[in-house]
Amino acid sequence: MNKLSLNKITDLSKNEILDILDDANCFATSKKDWMVNDNSLIANLFFEPSTRTHYSFLAAEHELGLSCDSFTPETTSIQKGESLYDTAKTFEALGYKVLVIRHPENNYFEQLEGVNIPILNGGDGTGNHPTQSLLDLLTIYQEFGKLEGIKVGVIGDIKHSRVAHSIKEAMDIMGGETRFSGPKELCDEENYMDIDEIVKWADVVMMLRIQLERHDVEFNKDNYLQEYGLTKERVSMMQDHAIIMHPAPINRGIEIDDELVESEKSRIFKQMTNGVLVRKVLIKRALGYGYFKDEDDN
Ligand code: CP
Repeated sequence: MNKLSLNKITDLSKNEILDILDDANCFATSKKDWMVNDNSLIANLFFEPSTRTHYSFLAAEHELGLSCDSFTPETTSIQKGESLYDTAKTFEALGYKVLVIRHPENNYFEQLEGVNIPILNGGDGTGNHPTQSLLDLLTIYQEFGKLEGIKVGVIGDIKHSRVAHSIKEAMDIMGGETRFSGPKELCDEENYMDIDEIVKWADVVMMLRIQLERHDVEFNKDNYLQEYGLTKERVSMMQDHAIIMHPAPINRGIEIDDELVESEKSRIFKQMTNGVLVRKVLIKRALGYGYFKDEDDN
């Protein structure tokens, strides 16, 4: 496995996460026009549907002046029984320099030890979503100027959410605190709180959708907003400084009141913009360009 791969958020130290957030802020401001521009080929292998992760990686690759291709399994030799490993090795043999992979299998990357080029995990099953955690951290850092001591309340289908598992690990690394709420049968984490308590407690209220594609737990859409969703009444219980986040896709009117999605407290679309910034940093890093602070040291 290439050491510039990113499989899990725990692959990164606290200092390296801070370097990534610093570089993402540089891309937003002073290094807006910085490009690699060396025609390196990047392959985006998406074995599961995605809008934000897939297209923000593509946007990041285009903005860096790289050549990028997208792969969906329906039109490739996966249909003839080719394995994930042989697919990844093929892209390496074809001269691609970095692979972005989303796959439904938890820890799929453990099968790819023999791949020599860096792999950036765009989400594995219910396991990890490290690039999402980094854009979440960037959004929180931009809001509060720190991560240490920040309280994140994650509400929804915790059990099937790679976002929930990864943000907990990320906040643990950065010295923050994460607690959970939602239907109890969909929570596999400790630190469970009642929904009305968690919205009062949190600096960041992070809503999640129910991942119906990953389980067949009974789900009553009609009562969900009142029981476990973010309503206007619950927002009125939030602290003045607290913000709303959601990794999306959003089911408006189910886990969150439609009007709250673009409300003053919401940072949901900001998270998406930040996704391009952190993914630019991760591709630059994977191609061996390091961090801007190292350039400044030379
Ligand atoms: N947040 C997220 O991973 O969205 P997509 O599934 O659209 O990539």
